[in-house]
Amino acid sequence: MNAKTNNSESIEVLTPDIKNDPAHELALSVLEGLSKKPKNLPSRLFYDDKGSELFKKIMELEEYYPTRCEAEILDQYSGKIAGYLTGEDVNIVELGCGDGTKTIKILNGFLKNQNKITFVPLDISRAAVDFLLGNLKKEYGKIPFSVQGLVAEYFQGLTWLTDNASQRNLVIFLGSNIGNFNRPTALRFLRHLWHSLNPNDLVLIGFDLKKDLDILYDAYNDKDGVTKEFNFNVLDRINQLLGGEFKRENFQHQGLYNIQTGAMESYLISQKDHTVNIEEVGKSFHFEAWEPIHMEYSYKYLKSDIENLAGDTGFEILENFTDKNGYFIDSLWKVIK
Ligand code: AVJ
Repeated sequence: MNAKTNNSESIEVLTPDIKNDPAHELALSVLEGLSKKPKNLPSRLFYDDKGSELFKKIMELEEYYPTRCEAEILDQYSGKIAGYLTGEDVNIVELGCGDGTKTIKILNGFLKNQNKITFVPLDISRAAVDFLLGNLKKEYGKIPFSVQGLVAEYFQGLTWLTDNASQRNLVIFLGSNIGNFNRPTALRFLRHLWHSLNPNDLVLIGFDLKKDLDILYDAYNDKDGVTKEFNFNVLDRINQLLGGEFKRENFQHQGLYNIQTGAMESYLISQKDHTVNIEEVGKSFHFEAWEPIHMEYSYKYLKSDIENLAGDTGFEILENFTDKNGYFIDSLWKVIK
């Protein structure tokens, strides 16, 4: 054996492109979440193609006010937002793109303001990105700016920014999607965003505000049961992908406001003592009668919460845009470095 074999120079180091197995990833999250007390399931499990479809239905519900409030804000203030970047070439990066209805309002603000723009919609669901691109074609015919769709997780999208950051960036994160993060995770996310951006880049973030509890309650417990269906879809998904044996009739759905944390919290609650086998996890999970599974947080904010989040992560608030009811804020921030 060559003496050099023990020399670090001759040791081959592999950097394989590790392919994730989505069913296995799902099995691990389910094992972890259902082994906790209280049990939980991660809220990203909501967004398969069926779940994205159900969320579109939620956005159309009478009771689900956030979408309408934010549309009202963007109708009124898109021109003013574009005014902060007059004369600049701008990358507009949308994290977790919706159907495009709200985005088009922002894009039109920039087009009217004669900016040259590149639009980068990002989502974990390929179907969501394709649906948005279809709606852009419907709106414009020939799209009058360059578009670069990205199917990726938020953090991977931020890497795109780091590699393509020669022009001014505006990152938009609408719909109070940030509300799924608890405060430490939101801080981590925002500081990571700050790190990916250049001085004077802008971000526009949607925050759902604290308000009358009856309004919150109705928005997350709609009378048509679409939100309930959205939650049960996660159990269906576990049944289909992992050979789970969840029965819907053994669970009830409740959206509850937690005054301590300031979040609407969704639960599926076991209505009887029973056991659910999940084949691919290789384990059965016991549910006592009235034992909850926590499904989702939707944090609600005070104006001071928004100020603290911006200040603590290196941003300056340029302007808070709100609807006439004062239910929602789109907050425009500048990167300070
Ligand atoms: C997409 C996370 C903003 O929290 O209001 C709607 C998801 N859940 N109804 C929200 C949701 C139940 C929504 N976000």
